[in-house]
Amino acid sequence: VLAPADRAAVLALWRKLGTNVGIYTTEALERIFVAFPSSKTYFLHLNLSPGSAQVRAHGQKVAEALSLAVNHLDDLPHTLSALRELHTHKLRVDPVFFKLLCHCLLVTLARHYPGDFSPNMHASLVKFLNHVISALAPSSG
Ligand code: HEM
Repeated sequence: VLAPADRAAVLALWRKLGTNVGIYTTEALERIFVAFPSSKTYFLHLNLSPGSAQVRAHGQKVAEALSLAVNHLDDLPHTLSALRELHTHKLRVDPVFFKLLCHCLLVTLARHYPGDFSPNMHASLVKFLNHVISALAPSSG
């Protein structure tokens, strides 16, 4: 469970992001495709060129899932169970890519919200994203 201070930090940042979460998840996707190109193998059916509407649409879905998680911090395994099933059994995403995507999201948020991105905020976001990863991905070795 996320400590109250971490929870408060994540909720506050999410309130600040408002309806723009999808912009940042889209940038995180664009970054993972460039910085860690092997991640693209899961998305060969999408147009991954810069500014792609398909990547933006996918970013929006990821954003909605993350916002759902922010609003269900006490019940992530249940909240994300269908997505876990999808990513684990259907898509068979290597767990390492969840870490890399979260890393790309942190880089993105640090870039757009430098004033908010204190070491403590960074730590709270890492804890939140690790909770999301454990609910979403098979545990990596
Ligand atoms: C689909 C969320 C990480 C690969 C999806 C969908 C959501 C989602 C909401 C759409 C499900 C639907 O349409 O029913 C997330 C979240 C992640 C995450 C919250 C981590 C924070 C990843 C990673 C990969 C990945 C790391 C692989 C590198 C895919 C693929 C699809 C998908 C290939 C299907 C895309 C399509 O065909 O349209 N994900 N995902 N996801 N995800 Fe993830």
